[in-house]
Formats: sequence, C-alpha cells, structure tokens
Amino acid sequence: KMSAEKMDPRSGVSNGSGPVYEKEENNLSPEDLSEMLAAGTKEVHEKAENTQFVKDFLRGRIRKELFKLGAVALYHTYTAMEEEIERNKEHPHFAPLYFPAELHRHEALARDIEYFYGPEWKSQITCSEATQRYVDRIHQVGQEDPVLLVAHAYTRYMGDLSGGQVLRKVAQRALKLPPTGEGLEFYQFDAIHSAKAFKQLYRSRMNELDLEVETKKKLVEEAVKAFHFNMEVFEELEEIGKTIQEDVLDAGMSAHGEMGGDISK
Ligand code: HEM
Repeated sequence: KMSAEKMDPRSGVSNGSGPVYEKEENNLSPEDLSEMLAAGTKEVHEKAENTQFVKDFLRGRIRKELFKLGAVALYHTYTAMEEEIERNKEHPHFAPLYFPAELHRHEALARDIEYFYGPEWKSQITCSEATQRYVDRIHQVGQEDPVLLVAHAYTRYMGDLSGGQVLRKVAQRALKLPPTGEGLEFYQFDAIHSAKAFKQLYRSRMNELDLEVETKKKLVEEAVKAFHFNMEVFEELEEIGKTIQEDVLDAGMSAHGEMGGDISK
C-alpha cells in the first residue's frame, strides 16, 4: 500500500544501487509527515514541557481542584476533536488514522469527571476561555479544512501515548487516587498493549497519506498551533491555581477564621 509519491526523486538519497525509497517504518525521509511533525514541533514541545503548570505537575505539585479543571479542559477538547474525527472518518486524508477503539478519550474523560464531580457533573462544569478557543479551532478545522485534523490528532494522541504513563503515576500518588484507576481513565489506553508499537503504526499511517509537501507544511504549522492552544490552557490553569492557593492561604491565615479553612478538600 505504499504510494508512489514516496518515490519522489528529489528527496531520495542515492546509495549507488538504485532508488532507495522503498519505505519501511524505520527508514524515514525528511519529507515524511511523521518526521516533519517531529522536527517541526521539537522547539514548541520543549516550550510546552517548560510551562510552570507542566513542571509543577511532573513534580507532583498538583492540587486536586486544578487537576479536576484540567480534566474538564481535556473533556471539552477531546469531545470536539472526536466529534470532528467522526465527521471526517471516511475522508481519505483522515481515514487511515481513524482508531476510535484504541485512541478515543471522550468516554474515559466523562467517567473521570463523573468520578470527581458526581452524577450531576454535566451541570457542574464549564468550558474555560482558553479551552473554548482551542475547541473553536478544532471545529473550524474539522468543518473547513479536515486534513488539518491530522495535526490536532497527532499533537494530542501521540503526546498522550508518550508521557501518559508517567503523568498517571504522578497524579495517582499526588492526589491519592484509588489504585483501581478511577479518575485516571484518561491516561489508560486499554486497547493499546504497546504504546511504542502503536506510535510506529500511527507514524507509518501518517506517512502513507497522499499529501503534497505544501499540505504537510500546513500540517506542521497547525500542530505548532495545537501546542500553543495546549500551552494557553496550561497557563490559564496556572493562573487559576494561584487564586485557589491564595484562597486556601487566606482561609488558613484568617484571624477570624470565618472561612473555616475547608475549601481545599
Ligand atoms: C513525544 C515527553 C509534554 C506532545 C514525547 C516523547 C517524550 C515526551 C519523552 C518522546 C516519545 C518517543 O520518542 O516516542 C514529554 C514530557 C512532557 C511532554 C516530559 C511534559 C512534561 C507534551 C505536551 C504535548 C506533547 C504538553 C502536547 C500537548 C507530544 C507529541 C509527541 C511527544 C505530539 C510525539 C513526537 C513525535 O514522535 O513526533 N513527549 N512530553 N508533549 N509529545 Fe511530549
């Protein structure tokens, strides 16, 4: 099922024994979408890793209220993304990347949020401003330029499959969540046995998409945008975190004690 565009002679490197361009997963070329995305988001990935919220999270410095709001942001994001993926699942530029059983997170997130907020969770949550901007872009892309959905799926799912297990352990320990996995289903991909093997499959599927180089460049730009949307959500959570902390401090240090100091639960 390898497409002929992979034979593009401009990008083939000759080793003196004819065309070198039979594709294998590990035999990558700079015009492979997976390579372009990895290289093109390297810098913004480092930025994302270095946002305060992410650094605090990795150190186990995460309060439950903030973790819950993070789950809510992810819930809105994945609801939008998976709605657009369903809309475009037969589109030739997305179909090979359609793995609902393996990847889709909407239902896992709904269960996590129900665990945190209870049966009335739907009326208890709102979509934050930064999350809404991200969601709006996902819907716009899904409806106006569906090929760009690849960039959004790549940014989230490949990231979840890369860092997910570490984040899950950190969160479980820091928040003292039950070892049964309640509240952390988002991080658990039950239908994926080897994240490494699945990522390889996903990369090769991306590389088999029949796309012009120009389109691949647009996809890299969109992935960089997707990273920025994520960082804006982190920055917003960071700001909210400061106010939560201040409230808790106020409550704890109040000379009169009327706050009761019980809001940090
Ligand atoms: C890949 C770590 C945050 C998106 C990876 C990989 C590591 C990693 C080690 C490489 C896995 C491999 O080679 O197979 C981290 C750490 C983070 C972080 C430590 C924060 C503390 C993020 C964020 C996003 C993200 C916030 C986007 C929302 C990705 C993507 C890949 C990736 C898309 C796949 C890169 C590729 O192979 O093309 N991450 N990550 N990561 N991460 Fe992250």
